[in-house]
Amino acid sequence: MCGIVGYVGFRSVSDLLVEGLHRLEYRGYDSAGIAILHEGKMSVRKKAGRVLELAGILQSQPILGHAGIGHTRWATHGAATDQNSHPHLGGNGEVAIVHNGVIENYDTLRKQLTALGYVFHSQTDTEVAAHLLAHNLEEQIILGGSASDIETCLKVVELTLEKLKGTYGLGIMFRDCPDTVIAARCGSPLVIGVGKDEYFLASDASPLVGYTKEVVYLSDHEVAVLQPTGLRIDHRKTGSVFPNVHVLEQVSADIELGDYEHYMLKEIFEQPQTVENAIRGRLDSEEATSVMGGLNLTAKDLRRIDRIVLTACGTSWHAGLVGEFLLEEFARVPTEVEYASELRYRNPPMTDRTLVFAITQSGETADTLAALRECKRKGHPTLAICNTVGSTIAREADGGIYLHAGPEIGVASTKAFTSQVTVLTLLALYLGRMRHMSYPAGRRIIGQLRDMPDKISKTLQCHDKVLEVADKYFRFNNFLYLGRLYNFPVALEGALKLKEISYIHAEGYPAAEMKHGPIALVDEQTPSVFVIPRGGIYPKVVSNMEEIKARRGPVIAIACEGDTDIARVADDVIYVPDVEEYLQPLVCAIPLQLLAYHVALLRGCNVDRPRNLAKSVTVE
Ligand code: F6R
Repeated sequence: MCGIVGYVGFRSVSDLLVEGLHRLEYRGYDSAGIAILHEGKMSVRKKAGRVLELAGILQSQPILGHAGIGHTRWATHGAATDQNSHPHLGGNGEVAIVHNGVIENYDTLRKQLTALGYVFHSQTDTEVAAHLLAHNLEEQIILGGSASDIETCLKVVELTLEKLKGTYGLGIMFRDCPDTVIAARCGSPLVIGVGKDEYFLASDASPLVGYTKEVVYLSDHEVAVLQPTGLRIDHRKTGSVFPNVHVLEQVSADIELGDYEHYMLKEIFEQPQTVENAIRGRLDSEEATSVMGGLNLTAKDLRRIDRIVLTACGTSWHAGLVGEFLLEEFARVPTEVEYASELRYRNPPMTDRTLVFAITQSGETADTLAALRECKRKGHPTLAICNTVGSTIAREADGGIYLHAGPEIGVASTKAFTSQVTVLTLLALYLGRMRHMSYPAGRRIIGQLRDMPDKISKTLQCHDKVLEVADKYFRFNNFLYLGRLYNFPVALEGALKLKEISYIHAEGYPAAEMKHGPIALVDEQTPSVFVIPRGGIYPKVVSNMEEIKARRGPVIAIACEGDTDIARVADDVIYVPDVEEYLQPLVCAIPLQLLAYHVALLRGCNVDRPRNLAKSVTVE
């Protein structure tokens, strides 16, 4: 939700900011803008629409300078217009800011500032912070401060932050304080890139790739001053902080599109590799278990656990639901998967034997972070299953498991889902082998997991068939997705993929549950996608399919290769390799990802940048 970039140093900053915004565009693409400070002049260019539009404006109206901030917006307050685009100027242009987050008390502050004579040019919550900074600067100058003095500017920032309620990642420049970018964080991520005589600021590490590998993650309540001569960080309550420099693992090629037309397609096709990465080094055939080094809990601690709570949002929640089934089947530990947005305000009974896992690709989802913090506050061990190294959730959890899937850029999550399910399978094996799971059973699971990258490669061979099915069905406006047991979460995920990128109404249901209401929707115009690989209750799902056919509903089946019987009931069949039931989500999700992708393309939708969505949901 909104991407921020900033830079001070010796490079020409305009192109650098635009490149950074391109890389952060997955966080929001309602508008983009930059402010550059050069020889005491603050210049702003901003525009509703994509970063490409901003780049066009900068070609005809370039700005010189070596210090600047930039922003790509996901609108919260105020429509996607030029006026609401960031950066926003405060007062008479003494200060420029970019903001990611939500200022909850903006209405009160706006009224106060309006009464003081400040004129608002936008409907955003951010502009109040800009004017408040300008107002506090004016007051500090009256008290003897100087606009060019960094101590005065820091005092102004502190006075302003004291008044703000809500969340923010801020990039700030004072017109009269040259070569300086100030950053402040409360709830929205910021990372600082450390170079030689130059510093970078960004919402995540992707804009830094290719420029520096050394980064400092800003924590909540920290304020950083970036100047070519050095970096200073202060915690608002505890004072000076020694910058803890981390080395970035990400390599440049990770964020290249390569030969693919879209990130989503690239990421779907990366899954044999990403599942391999999730497994690598984590299987112990000798002990018939998995290796979970990062949990930071002893076997004794884990043996005490009598309940697991998995918390997540969206696709990660769907992976969590598969996790619930896996953990209960393999480890026999009662497990619940909770929507993080609900858990953060609910107060379910949890004892000191309850272990909490936050599942998140980005590691920045505001609700997941809040749920994790709430559980941590209550004293529960909190762990993360996370993709983004160094993200807030990865840093705040007591331990966890990384996905190692590489950056996921496509707004619709694909490879993160299969990696999360893989890691949850490893976790279930680990906890299972600590309890009653036998050595041979553990060995069997290890062998099956090792085969998964190959099985996923084979699954991807369904691509042509999916294209054919997409072509036949892309004009339909309502879909049902149905599956049972391990394939119920897959049905939910398939429906989510379709609706988020093609804007088609789709509902996921347990296949037998549809008799209790949704079947009323079935007619010739409502196709049902059945996730129906072989398994214990296969005949029951076939009966559910017959019920749909009896009502003239078109049926698309995701079935196991060799299952020719299903073709007699379903109108179209997409075959996937035959795997154990608990591994079926890893293969069955893939044709559904491809189906959503092709349907969206055929409907002319922007697959990597679906409307109203952003990759990283850092607002509540
Ligand atoms: C759907 C999608 C979202 C995310 C959700 C959680 O394709 O991408 O539903 O899964 O916003 O995001 P993370 O996993 O980053 O916490």
